[in-house]
Amino acid sequence: MGITFYEKERIFKLDTPNTTYLIGIVGKLGFFGHIYYGKKLNGIEGAWELLRVDEDDPSLWDEEAKYRVLFLNRFPTEYSSHGVGDYRESSIRVRTKQGHNAVLLTYHSHRIIEGKPPLEGLPATFGQEGKSDVTTLIITCVDKVLNLKAELYYSVFADTDAIARSVRITNENSEAIYLEKVMSGCLDMENKDFEILSMHGSWFRERYLERKKLGHGKYSVSTTRGGNCHQEHPFMALLAQGANQTMGEVYGFNFVYSGNFLIQAELDQMDSVRVVVGIHPEDFCWKLEPGEAFQAPEMIMTYSSQGLDAMTHSFHKLYKKHIIRSPYRDKKRPILINSWEAAYFDYDEKKLLDIARESAKLGIEMLVVDDGWFGNRYDDNRALGDWYVNEEKLKGGLKYLADEVNKLGMKLGIWMEPEMISPDSDLYRAHPDWAIAIPGRKPSRHRNQYVLDISRKEVRDHIMDMICKVLSSANISYVKWDMNRPLSDLGSAALPPDRQGELYHRFILGLYEMQQRLLDEFPDLLLENCSSGGGRFDPGMLYFSPQIWCSDNTDAIDRLIIQEGTALVYPLSAIGAHVSVCPNHVTGRTTPFDTRGVVALAGTFGYELDVTKLTEEEKEQIKIQTAYYHKLNDLVREGDYYRLASYWQNGTHDCFQVCSPDRRKSLVFYVQVKNPVSFPYQLSRQIRLRGLNEDALYVVKELDLTKEDESDDQQGGKALNGGVLMNGGLNFDWMWGDFQAKLFYLEQV
Ligand code: DGJ
Repeated sequence: MGITFYEKERIFKLDTPNTTYLIGIVGKLGFFGHIYYGKKLNGIEGAWELLRVDEDDPSLWDEEAKYRVLFLNRFPTEYSSHGVGDYRESSIRVRTKQGHNAVLLTYHSHRIIEGKPPLEGLPATFGQEGKSDVTTLIITCVDKVLNLKAELYYSVFADTDAIARSVRITNENSEAIYLEKVMSGCLDMENKDFEILSMHGSWFRERYLERKKLGHGKYSVSTTRGGNCHQEHPFMALLAQGANQTMGEVYGFNFVYSGNFLIQAELDQMDSVRVVVGIHPEDFCWKLEPGEAFQAPEMIMTYSSQGLDAMTHSFHKLYKKHIIRSPYRDKKRPILINSWEAAYFDYDEKKLLDIARESAKLGIEMLVVDDGWFGNRYDDNRALGDWYVNEEKLKGGLKYLADEVNKLGMKLGIWMEPEMISPDSDLYRAHPDWAIAIPGRKPSRHRNQYVLDISRKEVRDHIMDMICKVLSSANISYVKWDMNRPLSDLGSAALPPDRQGELYHRFILGLYEMQQRLLDEFPDLLLENCSSGGGRFDPGMLYFSPQIWCSDNTDAIDRLIIQEGTALVYPLSAIGAHVSVCPNHVTGRTTPFDTRGVVALAGTFGYELDVTKLTEEEKEQIKIQTAYYHKLNDLVREGDYYRLASYWQNGTHDCFQVCSPDRRKSLVFYVQVKNPVSFPYQLSRQIRLRGLNEDALYVVKELDLTKEDESDDQQGGKALNGGVLMNGGLNFDWMWGDFQAKLFYLEQV
């Protein structure tokens, strides 16, 4: 495990439990290239051949070689150059004082260190405390003409098949240089007849999966919206021909960043593939004074030889152990009830307390006061930035509410949108220049709001002082940090003209600093990130909040697709999921209460409804669901996730499973979206389970979420062989009607 440098061969071997990544330095001029990324190798003999370079190629030794362009344009590099003859996507581009753009980085030296240095100002993966479970290779390379130094970081984890990469650029010249593009990583490899799996979507339709063939040319996912992205997701997987859920080779890429990104796969004339991952270069320009450094965010790469399931396990494990820092990471979160779909802006302290009183009786543990408790916020047209309690609306303020809610044995949480400013707000009236805007242009509004210029320290300090005051004024256990518009009209009143191109990235650095400060001041706070539903689901946000609101679409059927896409990369413990009322506010669809419960139990779990308006029967079901949450959540949170059937693909049913790491316990979630009626017999379905012990016997028990569970876990079920369940399948009888759910609990006897 770890990283080895083979001096004679000049090869770096990076090993994770099941994968190997090889980099080779070649020739006198310091080219270093990508040799291999795949299944774990025990030796490196013969690996050189994979570079497909002739060691006698003059381009490796002589800058004036006759066919240097030909060489540069096909060499499988670790970090692609710009403007000197490699016409595939570059990893870095600069602008010098003289107006030139070219960069060519060649090997200078390297270090291998135990552990992993943090990335300045940025969220990043880390080793677990007290364990030496991560090793880092730092390759220093230089552009001798520019006096520019680049350090390429590669960290490998002892327990996870993932490699984290990032880049740090230092200007060692005596004059300033402008970075116009800095990718966090580049991977050149042979085409394996790849298909691309990516995620697209919109508000209410986050992270829908899409699979297509990688043809010649470039295919990318990206955003230039600045920080709120439902449309495309910073994830891409390349699936070798024939790869599926359980078989075949899969390369997965994810970006630990919450702003503009670009992930691009390019199939070139030689049928080689180049993948680049990094900050989107559009409107990015970072001035580096002499001696200054720029830290690019981290990208994650995974390789699986066993299909998508294994890729998912690597991402889940990495994020569960190496990116979520919250003290709630390994804990059951309080079951919350959120006021948004219950009341929107129309509430006062009486209404909220009525909801809390009823909720407490049903096993709900936290009341979250969503949008509308502050300033003059009676609708979504005003008051963002005025972070003080509206005591006309909430008599006695948050202190009274928290005290009353605490008396019920419940916690209190609140909503905030700290990065925004309403034109109709005291804050804007006092500081109009704090909104992001271009002089002479009216900034475009979205939801009647502007974006705050949190690249400015005084702005961040002012907002955080207000927020911390509110949080100190009452016993507040949870914050939902929302963000409801993309950035536009990029201009900062505080940045000089030649630094305006830094604003997108400085905004995100400001966001990270604010969330860090919040957690430093309130270490026990449970933070949930959110952006118009699920527009902020990325690993950068997971570094700060152990859970992220997944979508404003709480319809149980639509959620199957949204949660499938999300869970492909992110652990179920991070997926904000609530039961809401029907007809659903977004889709108008009516689904059974227990189906809504089953789908939400596969996430953080909570409610998004006015519990005082429910029928007695529905309230009884809440009692049952909350009791099940306590029984099952450890398994959901800690278990390995398997996708068994996909409604997104088959259009009729959805099925997934979680298994405890010791394989002794498992849960199977099944939703029949459409009754598969077939005359004269009704179809039954056998779904092959995964992750069990082949030879063990499991008691399989169907959990009825409409009735109280009186038996203990070993009773009331049949004992089935693990091999039978995995190779034959678990039989699902058809159910009367659409949108029906089943939940099975398996325990080894
Ligand atoms: C968007 C969020 O996704 C909703 O849950 C809610 O908090 C609203 N914003 C409030 O404005």
